[in-house]
Amino acid sequence: MKTILVTGGAGFIGSNYVRHVLTTCEDVRVVNLDVLTYAGNLENLEGLEDDPRYRFVRADIADAGAVEAAVADETVDEVVHFAAESHVDRSIEDASAFLRTNVVGTQALIDFARAREVARFVHVSTDEVYGQLGPDDPAFTEETPIQPNSPYSASKASSDLLVRAACHTHGFPGLITRCSNNYGPYQFPEKLIPLMISNALEDRPLPVYGDGLNVRDWIWVEDHCAAVDVVRQRGELGQVYNIGGRSERTNLDVVKAILGQLGKPESLIEFVKDRPGHDQRYAIDDSKITAALGFVPKVGFDEGIRQTVAWYTANETWWQRVKSEAYRDYYERMYGERTGEG
Ligand code: NAD
Ligand code: TYD
Repeated sequence: MKTILVTGGAGFIGSNYVRHVLTTCEDVRVVNLDVLTYAGNLENLEGLEDDPRYRFVRADIADAGAVEAAVADETVDEVVHFAAESHVDRSIEDASAFLRTNVVGTQALIDFARAREVARFVHVSTDEVYGQLGPDDPAFTEETPIQPNSPYSASKASSDLLVRAACHTHGFPGLITRCSNNYGPYQFPEKLIPLMISNALEDRPLPVYGDGLNVRDWIWVEDHCAAVDVVRQRGELGQVYNIGGRSERTNLDVVKAILGQLGKPESLIEFVKDRPGHDQRYAIDDSKITAALGFVPKVGFDEGIRQTVAWYTANETWWQRVKSEAYRDYYERMYGERTGEG
């Protein structure tokens, strides 16, 4: 039995990944290490507490002593690193947590993984490190220069470079994935899609930045998780793999699709002041991961948005508890004061 240390497993993608890997791989245990920031929600993993192949530990990746103490009794074979501050708007307000977690935290985790001699370290990154595209530019490849435009993407780019440097200098067994915008169950309702669905369900205005014509390449979260796991299992050490959804849409198209499915009027759309430095377009060329590892995304946007709207409609309790912050009690209820245990 192999033990995978998953960081940030209480967040949106991390929690989907924990379920994915436990379901698809019988021979792995998961130790989920997460500090539980506002974005960490153990309710995303409800039902796994009694699974003998799953353990939760609470620690800050930027605190090397805390990470070592939390997993002192574990043999860590592989690391899949999701933990990050992930919201662009928050990074524009205040970048400090982004530097601490995304940059300092990633280096601390690299040091930990080297000391433990892990076999593989998958660093989960973003297409935003490449900067932005114009309407007719070719999609990002792994060779596209790194030109981040927001404090968030700059901090992720920094973490990618630290992983790259560790591979080059120390022969570190790192792999980097750069994925486009994810959507699906358990996404925190500050991000475009869950914010718009939950607002529409409450008949509240949908705040679209600028003219709503910015383009993102949307990927169903389960497809991203599957791709990360293909890279974990079969990716070549030291390589970067782009992951995309093959589903470019303007924000306005996304919002209209949500309103259409919910049968709500487009008059709920409210155009608001644009995000400073708002990247115009992201698009992924995923030919490398397809050719090298045979990965292709399975769920297109129409099907994915249908399932996502259905999930948020059926799971109103989940997002109402996030909006009211009631979800923050879950750790104490499940794990009491036993910080670092689970
Ligand atoms: P999220 O914000 O939903 O979750 C982040 C998780 O990391 C939370 O559980 C949080 O508690 C934890 N965390 C934050 N700081 C920590 C720290 N110092 N120590 C330990 N845990 C900490 O994020 P997400 O959307 O699930 O994204 C996960 C990863 O995927 C990130 O690295 C992000 O950059 C990357 N990514 C996200 C997207 C997207 O569309 N959401 C796209 C491409 C890449
Ligand atoms: P977001 O989900 O924050 O992801 P990212 O900025 O990392 O791509 O935003 C997706 C797009 O939606 C982006 O172009 C900004 C836009 N947006 C809005 O128009 N209104 C909103 O309230 C939010 C959160 C985002």
